[in-house]
Amino acid sequence: MIINEKISQAMSIKLDNTLPSYPIFEKGLRRAPKRELKLTNSEIKLALKNALRYIPENLHKELAPEFLDELLTHGRIYGYRFRPKGRIYGKPIEEYKGVILEGRAFQVMIDNNLDFKTALYPYELVTYGETGQVFQNWMQYILVKKYLEVMTDEQTLVIQSGHPLGLFKSNPTAPRVIITNGLMIGEFDNLDDFNRATALGVANYGQMTAGGWMYIGPQGIVHGTYNTLLIAGRLKLGLKKEDNLAGKLFITSGLGGMSGAQGKAIEIAHGVGIIAEVDFSRIETRLSQGWVGVITKTEKEAFDLAQKAIEKKEALSIAYHGNIITLLEYADKNSINIDLLSDQTSCHAVYDGGYCPDSLSFKERTELLKKDRDSFKVEVDKSLKKHFEVIKRLTKKGTYFFDYGNSFLKAVYDAGVKEVSKNPNNVYDGFIFPSYVEDILGPELFDYGYGPFRWVCLSGKETDLIKTDNAAAETIDKDRRYQDMDNYIWVKDAMKNKLVVGTQARILYQDAEGRLAIALKFNQMVRDKIVGPIMLGRDHHDTGGTDSPFRETSNIKDGSNIMAEMSTHCFVGNAARGMSLVTLHNGGGVGIGKVSNSGFGMVLDGSLKVDEILKQSFLWDVMSGVARRAWARNENSISTTIEYNKNHKDTDHITLPYITDDNYLSNLIKNKQD
Ligand SMILES: NC(=O)c1ccc[n+]([C@@H]2O[C@H](COP(=O)([O-])OP(=O)(O)OC[C@H]3O[C@@H](n4cnc5c(N)ncnc54)[C@H](O)[C@@H]3O)[C@@H](O)[C@H]2O)c1
Repeated sequence: MIINEKISQAMSIKLDNTLPSYPIFEKGLRRAPKRELKLTNSEIKLALKNALRYIPENLHKELAPEFLDELLTHGRIYGYRFRPKGRIYGKPIEEYKGVILEGRAFQVMIDNNLDFKTALYPYELVTYGETGQVFQNWMQYILVKKYLEVMTDEQTLVIQSGHPLGLFKSNPTAPRVIITNGLMIGEFDNLDDFNRATALGVANYGQMTAGGWMYIGPQGIVHGTYNTLLIAGRLKLGLKKEDNLAGKLFITSGLGGMSGAQGKAIEIAHGVGIIAEVDFSRIETRLSQGWVGVITKTEKEAFDLAQKAIEKKEALSIAYHGNIITLLEYADKNSINIDLLSDQTSCHAVYDGGYCPDSLSFKERTELLKKDRDSFKVEVDKSLKKHFEVIKRLTKKGTYFFDYGNSFLKAVYDAGVKEVSKNPNNVYDGFIFPSYVEDILGPELFDYGYGPFRWVCLSGKETDLIKTDNAAAETIDKDRRYQDMDNYIWVKDAMKNKLVVGTQARILYQDAEGRLAIALKFNQMVRDKIVGPIMLGRDHHDTGGTDSPFRETSNIKDGSNIMAEMSTHCFVGNAARGMSLVTLHNGGGVGIGKVSNSGFGMVLDGSLKVDEILKQSFLWDVMSGVARRAWARNENSISTTIEYNKNHKDTDHITLPYITDDNYLSNLIKNKQD
């Protein structure tokens, strides 16, 4: 039998064999509810053995009971003791240790994802989206940091669901880090098996940018929400291209990690929004950050305030402390007109605490989750049905409702409401209400290649952010399309709108050519020492990179919406072209088994080598998605691709679909069958 002494001697990168002191948990910080735990005794033993793999043998007797206690109390082993003491946050890059710039840059990103200010449950390593974790446990955090400190530009760090498999020899133009999260074998790719695997400590739900180390606080989603609301106004409320949402009312729920962006977005679009939130601590956080304007505790107070702002055409975001259903039923009963309606509760994790039933307060929801999950599920299903009914009544009165990418409609369907699906027997044809991608973001942004490009100024200096904002604005041809004008206004006003929470970062929707132009300009600025090093990245909620029939690819109508090939190609193509960090995840946004998504991180060091990587990878990353959308016959993607084939004829060539005559085919089939 191999003894632990030999194992320890075979590793130079490992946890220390002294025990860190047990943490004192800071008061007032949100803690994750107990996660589902359905392990047998032998599986509990396996979970303990798995966690103890990180721990030197001399500490096993002390830590095994502690880990068992964590598992039984929290449903997971987080290894709290290994969390570094005090506040973790993305510090200026010079403050990190590391042989190469990339190694230090990734540490900035990881720490920003775990910042008390940005993370939803920082002690449980959850950045956003109820369950989106950076790592499974703190042992992985410590080990990954050690790896990043010693990594050279001839090595690649491989991370599987938070676990650092190790450093492997590669070359300077290979990715420095390859991450996968929660990828499962098809037969086991369902929530029950995933929950079992996470409880055993072998799977991580990375969401998109949590486990992909690219979270930039709620700003990351403000831009997309702002675009969605503005375009919804233009398409559904008859606003002109130059109009904003002044005098229009938007109702939604959720002031959490991502949903917390909704108040800010509606204000930037000059509309009025009421956002229901059951957890008062989240309302307080958003108020202290200036991300909501006022707090209200009754429905009447909320709607009275909204009415005043609507009449004066003033921008206002109102947090309503209570359940979204209560708010909507009040509006329905009192015939209050709602222009735009959505929901951003965490329905991807609907039975895990993501959705609070209207029969329970937030506190009662947490208690019932701990005590009796089966009863909790019954309450959730009842509530989802009620929620659906009130939405139906409101839409009949003229409200435009859209699913905002949180799997709400799928959750309603799974709760037994078959009429929410166009075809009650399955969900292949989508739902009776549109997803925001089907109606809005898909055709108007993704199909052209516009998506959530972002950057982080690794120096931590606000002056760098201002310089990069200005430089990015200069690259935009604002008169090309209305989308370019919206993006130009967004970045010009970005500082004024005080969007930064955590590191000095910016999101800016751009298409393929726009992203490349900005990336090359920024790398030149780093080369000229105008700014410090920069991390480029994107959310996975994008044109390419994500196969998600209930969200990103919900406007793909050629039957390929159930395929997961684009995300895999995007991931591997970015790796082949030398992006600094490449990621591939199961489940981000809408839940396990429902989406495959890939992302990247690219460190700008000012070198010509990086220029070359940008030229090869940036167009690919986006155009792989536009090409797929064009092949699915999406019109705006076809026109974008025709233009692309012309402009890049020496290097690229994308296959385009011939269009058929629908009537001719219908008649042909009908005649044959008659
Ligand atoms: N559309 C997009 O672009 C996009 C992007 C990222 C995430 N998402 C999805 O949106 C959802 C929300 O993400 P998040 O990061 O904000 O999650 P979160 O869990 O941090 O926030 C959700 C909030 O909803 C509140 N809530 C739950 N039930 C409620 C109810 N019935 N009434 C009122 N409030 C209630 C919770 O208290 C919580 O604060 C997730 O499903 C996520 O996957 C969508």
